Amino acid sequence: MAKKTVRDIDLRNKRVLVRVDFNVPLKDGRITDDTRITAALPTLKYVLDQKGTRLILMSHLGRPKKPDKENSLAPVAVRLSELLGRKVTLAPDCVGPQAEAAVKAMQPGDVVLLENVRFHPEEEKNDPSFARKLAALGDVYVNDAFGTAHRAHASTEGVAKILPGVAGFLMEKEIKFLGGVFEKPAKPFVAVIGGAKVSTKIAVLESLLPRVTTMIIGGGMSFTFTKTQGHTVGNSLVEEDFLDTARVFLDKAKKAGVEVLLPVDHLVGTEFSDKVKAELVDSVDVPAGRMAMDIGPKTVGLFRDRILAAKTVIWNGPMGVFEFPEFSAGTEEIARAVADCKGITVVGGGDSVAAVNQFGLADRITHVSTGGGASLELLEGKQLPGVVALQDK
Ligand code: 3PG
Repeated sequence: MAKKTVRDIDLRNKRVLVRVDFNVPLKDGRITDDTRITAALPTLKYVLDQKGTRLILMSHLGRPKKPDKENSLAPVAVRLSELLGRKVTLAPDCVGPQAEAAVKAMQPGDVVLLENVRFHPEEEKNDPSFARKLAALGDVYVNDAFGTAHRAHASTEGVAKILPGVAGFLMEKEIKFLGGVFEKPAKPFVAVIGGAKVSTKIAVLESLLPRVTTMIIGGGMSFTFTKTQGHTVGNSLVEEDFLDTARVFLDKAKKAGVEVLLPVDHLVGTEFSDKVKAELVDSVDVPAGRMAMDIGPKTVGLFRDRILAAKTVIWNGPMGVFEFPEFSAGTEEIARAVADCKGITVVGGGDSVAAVNQFGLADRITHVSTGGGASLELLEGKQLPGVVALQDK
């Protein structure tokens, strides 16, 4: 990566202001998945291992517009303290007298977590005077919040204009793996793109097309492609407005010599419900009155073969409605194929990450991204403002 990291600067005796993405899922005040907290630990431990450092953390949680208890970072402070094995003080605000007092009282080795930066609307507006107040709390700025790097907010972008910023280890790793697919991916390079809609994935398909050997398209979006090829789709999801886009994409792939694989059989149901029984349709064509909700076993075999032979795999988006047990097998089998592949494997995007976690396969994947929107934008080939703002090497 062409950006400086924590390794490149002297942190000793500094107040180190670190933007993390602790936007974790909560249910009844309890954290249901602490991946984003554990993923930041290498950076946080590294900072604390340097002599005389004081660690000041800032994050958002949810999308509040003003202070509210539901979006407090209090449960995160408790969990982080358990994981770090040291006290984490939650400052009641991220700027102003209470934040300043909490930081002023810090001793070397202390950790302060500032309360949710989105309790102030100035955060999302990237307000310069709000960014100055945040920046005043640190001597150096580290951004390890990959999941929020696609947002040009005060704590992700504004602060870096005041305090020169460097990347943390998580940020570095995310960019190495997700951004790395644009540099020199080892071939064969297979992209597995799923999800419901072509409209939300077409930019990813387009940006990966010139780089991949094989493009595997599954999930609800595949029916816009099969329909444009003249197949019947029954009641399956189709974006009529994107039929032309899909056709043009298939033509482009053909001209570029990129193999595109689409489902050749399906598991279908009579309606979109977790109560319906799955039926196998051994054909690309989905009969009238049926909705395809998962890929069938022939498709699994076809996709699996390509995935196993790949030297690089990027997977984004499920193959079907995997949250319905009757229709989860296809996504699970693809997750297993990615886990079984001996090459570099990268999984990005909320639903496919949820799938590898649900099937207990995350530790067999080279890199599972902590970003949802951020990983999608990176795969679309976009520059992320939170990354751009950091110092070049
Ligand atoms: C995420 O969960 O994708 C990030 O934390 C960003 O959150 P946001 O979409 O509310 O900006």
